[in-house]
Amino acid sequence: MPHRRVQGRRVMSIGSPQVRADAVAKVTGVARYAADHRPPGMLHARLVTSTIARGLITSIDASDASGLPGVRAVITHHDLAGELNPVQALVDGGHFHTAACPLAGPVIRHAGQIVALVVAETGEVAERAAHAVDVRYATGPAVLDLADTDPADDVEVARWEVGDRMPGGAVAVDEVYTTPAQHHHAIELYAVLAQWRGASLEVDVPTQWVQGEQRGLAAALGVPESAVRVRAPYVGGGFGGKAVVLWHTVLVAWAARRLAAPVRLFVTRQQCATVASFRPQSTHRVRLTATSGGRLLGYEHDVRAQTSRTDTVGLAGTAMTARLYATSRIRCRETVAPVDAPTPGFMRAPAEFGHAFALESAVDELAARLQVDPVALRLRNEPARDPVTRLPFGGRHLSQCLRLGAELFGWADRDPRPRSMSDAGELIGWGCAASLYPANGGGIVECRMTLDEDGRAVVEVAATDLGTGAATVLAQIAADAAGLDPGAVVVTLGDSVLPAGLMAAGSCTTGSAGSAVYRAGLLLRAALERGESAPVTVTARWVPRGMTPALHAAHRRGSRVQLGPVRDGRVLFAYGAQFAEVRVDPVTGMVRVPRVVGVFDAGRIVNPRTARAQLVGGITWGIGHAIMERTPIDRSRAAFSGTDLGACHVATHADVGQVRVEMLDIADPAVNPLGVKGVGEIGLVGTVAAVTNAVYHATGVRVRRLPVEPAVLV
Ligand code: MOS
Repeated sequence: MPHRRVQGRRVMSIGSPQVRADAVAKVTGVARYAADHRPPGMLHARLVTSTIARGLITSIDASDASGLPGVRAVITHHDLAGELNPVQALVDGGHFHTAACPLAGPVIRHAGQIVALVVAETGEVAERAAHAVDVRYATGPAVLDLADTDPADDVEVARWEVGDRMPGGAVAVDEVYTTPAQHHHAIELYAVLAQWRGASLEVDVPTQWVQGEQRGLAAALGVPESAVRVRAPYVGGGFGGKAVVLWHTVLVAWAARRLAAPVRLFVTRQQCATVASFRPQSTHRVRLTATSGGRLLGYEHDVRAQTSRTDTVGLAGTAMTARLYATSRIRCRETVAPVDAPTPGFMRAPAEFGHAFALESAVDELAARLQVDPVALRLRNEPARDPVTRLPFGGRHLSQCLRLGAELFGWADRDPRPRSMSDAGELIGWGCAASLYPANGGGIVECRMTLDEDGRAVVEVAATDLGTGAATVLAQIAADAAGLDPGAVVVTLGDSVLPAGLMAAGSCTTGSAGSAVYRAGLLLRAALERGESAPVTVTARWVPRGMTPALHAAHRRGSRVQLGPVRDGRVLFAYGAQFAEVRVDPVTGMVRVPRVVGVFDAGRIVNPRTARAQLVGGITWGIGHAIMERTPIDRSRAAFSGTDLGACHVATHADVGQVRVEMLDIADPAVNPLGVKGVGEIGLVGTVAAVTNAVYHATGVRVRRLPVEPAVLV
């Protein structure tokens, strides 16, 4: 077979910075996203959403809407009653964002809940008709802001401790840190195209999990899984919002069956904020005790976060942050406060972002009180073993990340005194933070690989490429394992008919799908070396270490098993260290972030170009989280406000200066055969506190509430 050789050495595809295989298709518009399809006879759907946050629908008058020429249906809870099967939310082992179907009855649980689906012959008519539906409500008292809840009503989601008693220490930090509600705002809006062919359903929908959508749709509609096909070959960003089945997807499939025509829905940007999940508000009380020499003794972390009144979603990030430093005493408790909100859920680094912001801010406060350099303080408290389980870590190179990051940033030149550095009338601050993110095992993945007579290797796996370059990276893995030229590999993903794949979440696609592809490639290579000739097909399966029979059974039911960071007697994380410079205008309080350095231990790097893009993207979002991003809450209406891209400020090119990313590229054999730990989320984790710690250094003002408001700095 055509092993490429250069001066007698095989050229490795893994480790080379290949451009995305689908780059040209995307920038030329050839790539078709869900809402780009337009089958003959297609009808157009729009959502009507509630204007109140809590109460009952007392009447729906659809006569004006139905009277518009071209309107085919106005579907409300009167039509859906008893039509759909009960389902489970992801938190309860199912596939759904929430078990509560918005059209199951007249109950309103949050502002912006779906109250009707309008279907018409054109999008314009559907839009007009949606505005013409007259919904009347009986309104009840509603609360959305976490600040308006009583901790006594909280539901506990995690509570654990290590060691007996909080040791006394010379120095203590005891502070509360607050994070806002946030929304994903992927560029590709939520959308669905559903069409039936006899008893079979085909759905094009942007999703992070084609087979989860398939199972969820089958369950809700009462059809066999084999009768449902879900496609998502291209997804324009997911970030967790597209991880699970959203109810409008089911409603559109139901409408397409009822009307015997293909139906396509666009969800508007504002509606995207309420028909899916969001990042909940949270508060974190962190207490640290340490010796005067800077040795940490105790870590306590109490978390409160929003959840909906229907689903108890707790993200339990203290299981991550408790692994950062050596402490003999840990006490963590996490509760959720039910509010009149959509069910919250995953958003990039969901269990890590707020928790790490709180801990890494507290560590910086401790360093300031001890007058110890914050990098030195972190290095001093590097644990030899996991402080929670006492088990050994897999590969852990956090100290190397901190040291290299400090060197590349020029940290040694930092004057530690707040407000000591300035330039051209602006205050300058330098801050740092450590990062970690679990090396999730994902679950069982299968791959089929076929070498055809033209020498093309077709790789099939029901993974998803959210725009990250997953397909490109899987081709590189396949090429090396099979001993083929990467140009000869075609990766087919994003289709539920393919061999078992997972939710593209938890930064686990390259490690889990990649491991199945790698094994299939080795089998193909062996087949060819045995003299088998094309066409030849092999199948392989990746079962992560630590997959017990019970987990396996759960996986077969729901395929949602995300094996956590403790597997096979080892504690598995990716690590990083971020260093940020801020410039603060002393008159206006405006914060700019001219440069960030991030150094990451994310295991083996399959493609340094796409991996760097993920890490730069995470850092960019971290800058936005630190200084501008939040979804405001209108307390009088118990509703999110500012949910369009004009009002929701996210970091753009003008907000991000120079971002330097270095990857240690040390394979971690404890994780998977490739040694890959994942890069999708860790870039965000430490960046937020690195920026706010830099703001403290620049101004002397400690920001414990995100995002930084310029007014508090002057
Ligand atoms: Mo991502 S928040 O793990 O979908």
